[in-house]
Amino acid sequence: MNKILITRKIPQKFIEQLEQIGDVVMWDKELTPMPRETFLSEVKDATACFITLSESVDEEVLTEASDLKIIANMAVGYDNIDVVRANDHDITVTNTPDVLTETTAELGFTLMLTVARRIIEAERYVQEGQWQSWGPYLLSGKDVHGSTVGIYGMGGIGRAFARRLKGFNTRILYHNRTQNPEAEKELDATYVSFETLLKESDFVICTAPLTPQTENQFDSKAFNLMKNDAIFINIGRGAIVDETALVEALRNHTILGCGLDVLRQEPIDVNHPLLKLDNAVIVPHIGSASRLTRDRMVQLCVNNILAVLNHQLPITPVKVNN
Ligand code: GLV
Repeated sequence: MNKILITRKIPQKFIEQLEQIGDVVMWDKELTPMPRETFLSEVKDATACFITLSESVDEEVLTEASDLKIIANMAVGYDNIDVVRANDHDITVTNTPDVLTETTAELGFTLMLTVARRIIEAERYVQEGQWQSWGPYLLSGKDVHGSTVGIYGMGGIGRAFARRLKGFNTRILYHNRTQNPEAEKELDATYVSFETLLKESDFVICTAPLTPQTENQFDSKAFNLMKNDAIFINIGRGAIVDETALVEALRNHTILGCGLDVLRQEPIDVNHPLLKLDNAVIVPHIGSASRLTRDRMVQLCVNNILAVLNHQLPITPVKVNN
């Protein structure tokens, strides 16, 4: 009999689908991750595993998981999984691309406009009873229209973000591992070096995945190259940014502001210096968090598990070169 381990509480309608093919063991909490010890002991006899970004799948887990056939990650990013080692153990890894692209791009756009127009500060100003009169420059921010927007990472989410810029009459620059002629044609985007992207952009949007190449890409050198009134948005992964360098850049007005959906350590420590800055807007990794998209992500994980346990090809396998 298959044992399907689910490391976070998901709706009953999805559990019922999985129960058609095995015994489901689910960690029954929505906001507390399954403790590592429990994960290690439950994964031992599991044939399928539905996990979230909170679980790290490394050699220790893979060695325990001798019956495991599939790890379905409820995320498009899979830096929490050692995919090469998993494949060595004959375990398929799947992720949730495409279904979350538009929703995540919308969050990126929301963050960009929120920081540019100082919406959080403005709302707080009203809530705190500071609003006394209209002021010529009261809470004045920065225009997106007519600006240069630099996108770091021109995959599906980068493109969906760029498409949303169409009504804003912006100049679009991008930097990516490889040039993307299709995106250039569709979006009128120009491929530039990382350095040019930083120097010329009014808004720098990071949508890249975390890889050894992208880790710490935004360091003090990068922030120093950016314009003093540039806004940095990160909807990729926290570890792409050197947060100490970012705090310094925000404090010293090396850049104007930032909006972050992803942090190096999630959840962020409440005493983190980023939380003390008015020009930093931080949200708790909610890029794909619309109800419909989250349903689609869960369904895709379920479909991948059903496919593999039924000896069919997975729908969205992660492919890495080893
Ligand atoms: C979320 O960050 C994801 O990778 O889906």
